[in-house]
Amino acid sequence: MKIKNVCVLGGSGFVGRHVVHLLGARGYRVRVPTRRRERAKSLLVLPTVDIVEANIFDPGDLDRQFEGMDAVVNLVGILHENRRGRADKPQARRGDFHEVHVELPRKVAHACAARRVPRLLHMSALNADPTARSAYLRSKGLGEAIMREAGAAAREDERGYLDGPKLVRGYGLAATIFRPSVVFGREDAFLNLFARLASSLPLLPLASPDARFQPVFVEDVARAIVDSLADEATFGQTYDLCGPKVYTLQELVEFVAATLGRRCRIVRLGPGASYLQAWALELMPGKKLMTRDNFYSMQADSVCACPFPALFGFSPANMEAVVPGYLAQALPRARYTGFRQRAGR
Ligand SMILES: NC(=O)c1ccc[n+]([C@@H]2O[C@H](COP(=O)([O-])OP(=O)(O)OC[C@H]3O[C@@H](n4cnc5c(N)ncnc54)[C@H](OP(=O)(O)O)[C@@H]3O)[C@@H](O)[C@H]2O)c1
Repeated sequence: MKIKNVCVLGGSGFVGRHVVHLLGARGYRVRVPTRRRERAKSLLVLPTVDIVEANIFDPGDLDRQFEGMDAVVNLVGILHENRRGRADKPQARRGDFHEVHVELPRKVAHACAARRVPRLLHMSALNADPTARSAYLRSKGLGEAIMREAGAAAREDERGYLDGPKLVRGYGLAATIFRPSVVFGREDAFLNLFARLASSLPLLPLASPDARFQPVFVEDVARAIVDSLADEATFGQTYDLCGPKVYTLQELVEFVAATLGRRCRIVRLGPGASYLQAWALELMPGKKLMTRDNFYSMQADSVCACPFPALFGFSPANMEAVVPGYLAQALPRARYTGFRQRAGR
């Protein structure tokens, strides 16, 4: 499959910026629709990247964005809802998770079919599952199912069905799904949040301290996505993406505090207190630090059953080798800790 023009939805975001930079460096022509051009300003300087203001939730607008594209990468995702759906009556009111993680992928698959875009890469999350307790993971699981169904006919085409009646089962898209654990890198939301907390609080009440994560470096995620674009071995596949090591949440916070050269006492919260803390933080106005849905999603370990996919031909970066390089810049004193860690002292 020859791919030259790529539309990246969510290209202005944390993962998206890395994907778009790499695509640009490899000579692809990239279109990045965004709600606000301002958000994508770091991409404006890239010569083969076109930033376009659009409402991708509007099917007509989305359809126009896909004109002339050979591939679409969908990275749009949210961790918190402003407008919550009703768990007891899912049909009665759809929340933001449903709109962003279920309805948008459906619109994306439709628009790809209408514009005859043959290739689709979709970002989900580890533990995504249509039956999950967490609405975030549930919606991500439903989004995956839609993308798989859209790719069904493409898989069947390997056996010569693409022009036959079975095409109605899917759109003939060559779809690939990525399911990362928590992603780290400069400007990440996760470790930077704990850096802010550890540098401002002497005592940190930590919910679900034993929840386990296997953080993966944002540049490795971007590389896996871009390497997959034209690689037929990845068509119809789903890849769990994790870094080399598993950490508990407490270990991650301790690592961040040590990197910053901060003393921060962690107060471990049990399940009941963790739930109440998540609820209290959910009720606070402004940007959400945590919600009950985050609490539910942390009940399942965010770790991979298998090593990083060998197909990509590289090993994922160690957090210890990367994080001091960017967190250290957060506080002047912490810079020396970063230097010491890199020097192995
Ligand atoms: N970061 C992680 O640790 C992690 C872990 C697992 C999975 N993921 C998944 O990876 C993908 C990328 O994550 P990220 O960390 O790069 O996210 P991010 O920084 O929050 O970026 C999300 C992007 O989605 C776009 N977007 C369009 N409509 C939106 C809407 N209604 N609400 C919010 N954003 C909207 C935003 O673009 P504009 O604002 O320019 O329109 C933005 O570029 C997501 O699907 C996420 O669920 C991330």
